[in-house]
Amino acid sequence: MTTPALAIEGLNAWYGESHVLHGVDMHVNPGEVVTLLGRNGAGRTSTLRAVMGLTGARKGSIRVDGKETIGLPTHRIAHHGIGYCPEERGIFASLSAEENLMLPPALKGAGEGMSVDEIYAMFPNLAERRHSQGMRLSGGEQQMLAVARILRTGARLLLLDEISEGLAPVIVQALARMITTLRAKGYTVLMVEQNFRFAAPLADRFYVMEHGRVVESFAAAQLDAKMPLLNELLGV
Ligand SMILES: Nc1ncnc2c1ncn2[C@@H]1O[C@H](COP(=O)(O)OP(=O)(O)OP(=O)(O)O)[C@@H](O)[C@H]1O
Ligand SMILES: [Mg+2]
Repeated sequence: MTTPALAIEGLNAWYGESHVLHGVDMHVNPGEVVTLLGRNGAGRTSTLRAVMGLTGARKGSIRVDGKETIGLPTHRIAHHGIGYCPEERGIFASLSAEENLMLPPALKGAGEGMSVDEIYAMFPNLAERRHSQGMRLSGGEQQMLAVARILRTGARLLLLDEISEGLAPVIVQALARMITTLRAKGYTVLMVEQNFRFAAPLADRFYVMEHGRVVESFAAAQLDAKMPLLNELLGV
């Protein structure tokens, strides 16, 4: 049996007094693309944040490549080779695209990050815009930069929160090609998506969350059969 890249068991998490995750179980195998679906407020962002140690108290188990991380502080968790791309992309407005790209240090203990050449080959428009200030980049360019930046750190497990949100269809298509390329390069991806049309053709497996719990999980091959249920749960 392969050790999952990420194994979450019985995860509970709180923001202060507010109990937001109630026993989440999910796993992502090495090289898989897994999509986390759910309505607004279902707990998808909180799940990614809890993996990174960015919620309040957490209970349960979160193993990364078999190693328990639930007791670790955020700065130690990332060094297990995790790259988190939050919904707010965190691009520095006054730094150039390339300065933004170079900002995060390489993760100790992770493998070698993607080289700048490899990144520019994968994101040609970032190469063209390398000297442009963050604030001058389009939403799509900022999103690509936010992902490119974590690839440089050596992270192999990517947690991506709603990367397609608010972007034009042509950019969303480019992001879909990016996910396909990352899978081909052996990256492991757990992504939260509201845009079902974007996520559906990319993912190997799906989880659906509701009220801080996983209520459904299925593989890509079962997608057609699950459509009536997804319609009911998500209105897609
Ligand atoms: N910082 C916070 N403090 C207190 N409660 C929070 C905080 N962030 C989120 N919540 C609550 O936690 C629950 C889960 O929110 P979460 O952001 O994980 O949902 P989501 O599935 O990502 O949905 P969406 O992104 O569409 O809002 C919601 O009830 C939300 O109100
Ligand atoms: Mg969210």
